[in-house]
Amino acid sequence: MDPLRIGIIGCGNISGIYLENLQRFPKTTVLAVADIDPAKAQAAAEKYGVPALTPDELLAHEEVELVLNLTIPAVHANINDQAIAAGKHVYVEKPLATTRDAGAQTLAKASAAGVRVGSAPDTFLGAALQTCREVIDQGLIGEPIGCNGFMLGHGPEAWHPSPEFFYKPGAGPMFDMGPYYLTALVSLLGPIKSVRGATKISFAERLITSEPLNGTKVKVETPTHLIGLLEFEAGAIGQLTTSFDTWASNLRNIEVYGTEGSMVVPDPNNFNGAVQIRTAKDSEWQDVPVTRPFAQNSRGLGILDMVYAIRTNRPHRASGDLALHVLDVMQSIIESGESKQLAEIASNTERPQALAAELPADDLNE
Ligand SMILES: NC(=O)c1ccc[n+]([C@@H]2O[C@H](COP(=O)([O-])OP(=O)(O)OC[C@H]3O[C@@H](n4cnc5c(N)ncnc54)[C@H](O)[C@@H]3O)[C@@H](O)[C@H]2O)c1
Repeated sequence: MDPLRIGIIGCGNISGIYLENLQRFPKTTVLAVADIDPAKAQAAAEKYGVPALTPDELLAHEEVELVLNLTIPAVHANINDQAIAAGKHVYVEKPLATTRDAGAQTLAKASAAGVRVGSAPDTFLGAALQTCREVIDQGLIGEPIGCNGFMLGHGPEAWHPSPEFFYKPGAGPMFDMGPYYLTALVSLLGPIKSVRGATKISFAERLITSEPLNGTKVKVETPTHLIGLLEFEAGAIGQLTTSFDTWASNLRNIEVYGTEGSMVVPDPNNFNGAVQIRTAKDSEWQDVPVTRPFAQNSRGLGILDMVYAIRTNRPHRASGDLALHVLDVMQSIIESGESKQLAEIASNTERPQALAAELPADDLNE
């Protein structure tokens, strides 16, 4: 099978792990990198030994089959659409776009052009979340009843080098971290039917304390403490709270409750983590061994899955449909927080197929 030839647009903070993994995976190869800031493209090019181009040159590169879009959320849709217009497949960091309309337009354009759209996160394909998936699919906690998700922190301005975008529409804790939680929950419990949101901005501005913008103030223009009540099509109900306003919490990332027991799901932003279950028969929590593949930071695994999907003509798992559904849910939580009304979720998606339990190192085999 020919490796998929990839061009990367956006050489910021997250690009390094993609370059490492996509150069290492046997079925992917990075042909070039590009950034609106030529110095960033040049730095990545030198570090990873690939040519630096301008974004336009990369889009026009005849051998590039897939554009990996690692730009900031506000330009995701624009770069996605340019790549599709150039006849390339696209894989975009989360979120797919900053609005469900822009995301839906991207998918429609891709469908018309006969190219594929994939989107982060792909952590739901990692060892820990696939172990959780197996727990559910084997009925170890019975029929799912409900879930709780909590992403409680105080925002990225103390560590991220350019944190302004996190406080603008299309980001905030729901659009930034919600994709990990909601994608994991859709993989475990299936698509979401309706949501009810409650949202607030607790701090009107934030002070950046990371370098190089230390001392700069950012006006907060999107909710930073959000609660979404979730009703799943298959019948489970639950809630997800995401916050950049809290200083401390003892709550777990995700718990799933079933008719026979409960499960602790580790941080869905990671590929590994401790999985536990406790059933009616147990007097304490039991560790579930995490022995599945892709336990290390495998960002790009969703692209590796796309290689097999494209070459063998099967659906890919970290799909545009899944990302649009997650985006729709996030936007609906924000809109419901404003309207105080229940929001029905119009978009639908298939629950992605589980990955095989045994796979060759750094590779798939389907
Ligand atoms: N930083 C993380 O830990 C992290 C983790 C997971 C996902 N992500 C996601 O990855 C994406 C990028 O995040 P980041 O932290 O790397 O941001 P970043 O700001 O460090 O990097 C973004 C890069 O995109 C470039 N860019 C912006 N507009 C462009 C355009 N129009 N054309 C070409 N290049 C353009 C910027 O110059 C910059 O180098 C975001 O969607 C974010 O949600 C980030």
